[in-house]
Amino acid sequence: MADGIEIGFGPLEQSGQGPGGSGDLVVFVGDDLALGSAARAALGAAGTDLVAKAAASEKFKGRSLSALTLPAPAGVNADRLVVIGLGLEKDRAKTDWPALGGFTAGKVSGRAARVVLDWPGTTVSAAQAGEFALGARLRTYTFDRYKTTKKPDAEDKSGTTLTLLLAEHGTASREGEGARTLSEGVILARDLVNEPPNVLFPEEFARRAADLSKLGVEIEVLEPARMRELGMGALLAVAQGSVREPRIVIMRWNGGPAGEAPVAFIGKGVVFDSGGISIKPGGGMEDMKGDMGGAAAVVGALHALASRKARCNVVGAIGIVENMPDGGSYRPSDIITSMSGQTIEVINTDAEGRLVLADVITHVVRSAKPKAMVDLATLTGAIIVALGQDIAGMFSNDDALAANINAAGEATGEKVWRMPLIPAYDKAIDSKFADMKNTGGRHGGAATAASFMQRYVEEVPWAHLDIAGVAMSSNASEINRSWGAGWGVRLLDRLVRDHYEAR
Ligand code: BES
Ligand code: MN
Ligand code: ZN
Repeated sequence: MADGIEIGFGPLEQSGQGPGGSGDLVVFVGDDLALGSAARAALGAAGTDLVAKAAASEKFKGRSLSALTLPAPAGVNADRLVVIGLGLEKDRAKTDWPALGGFTAGKVSGRAARVVLDWPGTTVSAAQAGEFALGARLRTYTFDRYKTTKKPDAEDKSGTTLTLLLAEHGTASREGEGARTLSEGVILARDLVNEPPNVLFPEEFARRAADLSKLGVEIEVLEPARMRELGMGALLAVAQGSVREPRIVIMRWNGGPAGEAPVAFIGKGVVFDSGGISIKPGGGMEDMKGDMGGAAAVVGALHALASRKARCNVVGAIGIVENMPDGGSYRPSDIITSMSGQTIEVINTDAEGRLVLADVITHVVRSAKPKAMVDLATLTGAIIVALGQDIAGMFSNDDALAANINAAGEATGEKVWRMPLIPAYDKAIDSKFADMKNTGGRHGGAATAASFMQRYVEEVPWAHLDIAGVAMSSNASEINRSWGAGWGVRLLDRLVRDHYEAR
């Protein structure tokens, strides 16, 4: 699905010129209700006065992310006038531009609007307008591929057209293009998460990832025969209960100097996690179609990076399997041998993600020799218990990498919280019969899962993001109304932009 929006840019002088006098005129005010000069010019004295009167009678206080919608007064070249609040002047420096864009798009959805990015005390930069545009695009995404009748809901998002008016409109078009390609990456990830597993089985997932070749991404797909040659006994054990064959997709974006070590992004792609023989309870099991949110984020990030021709070498690797109960399934008590040579006693077949990732990590470490490695995985329910649904858990063996990811999280709003990796967690996964077992007991479930994966990263600077709480079942926000959030695409894009790209 695409977003349902078109975004253009123009000079503030266009504020008074509607498309044939139709559409919405959007203006912004702080808590003092003062309009910027372009907005005042477009509204005229009578319109400016009307805004003040309407605000008083409607108790509109200009609070952040509140709006007042009015029929446009006579003499104003528009159908409706939408006044959007910015809140207190002192908070202006912390303006969440994507959220403001998302909120605005929500207020004018399905319509054409001129958006006057001008208010007292602020000159909106091209970059800020780009962030605004990104939020607007992400807000208008809906996943309705399987609705045979589209009900005209309150927020009909298709056909929204925004013209963002600002002083820096010339350079803003470039930022707007960046917003478009980044939003495409997020939307690709959201689509993948929202798709059901009967449609998005591993082979189909691999096909969709392979589409990135159109953007110049090198694609390599590993099938089971090759996985067996490589000795990927852990991933193959998870896959063996499903009639759907597993796949690993390696995506290489070579935008940096030839021969420079890449940064690697690795994603858990369990297209459906029934739990296997250690089957999950029925209630909510349908959510486990989203157990590939990590892989979706990696594909979306590679899409975004390749679209904007990022100047760095990046390897994306996703392990795609289905975890099912079957006569042929792997079982608790099985001892399996991973590609690394380390053996694993299976305690619980529902702790499958770490088994899949172990082999993908070993393969990436040995074949790509990355300078840094970040995995994203909907790995544990325990991380949701610990952190809830608004922040991801981060485990890392490298303080500098962890700090960079943290900064990228703050910058994009895709926030992470660092969790500990200590020897006690590692000890918890020692096994009586094998080198390790795949669960660490009742306590510290997210941390023992991370410790399990640490046994496969060798010496590579690495961070593990447990995104079980943020990838799916998302709370509605100003920039997302979708079940699948596409979480991580913006974070990874930002991490690359700020720390791995030649300037
Ligand atoms: N995919 C789940 C984790 C999960 C739970 C993701 C809820 C999103 C929402 C994972 O494979 C799993 O089942 N983990 C188990 C591990 C346990 C068996 C050690 C868990 O968290 O309960
Ligand atoms: Mn599981
Ligand atoms: Zn899982």
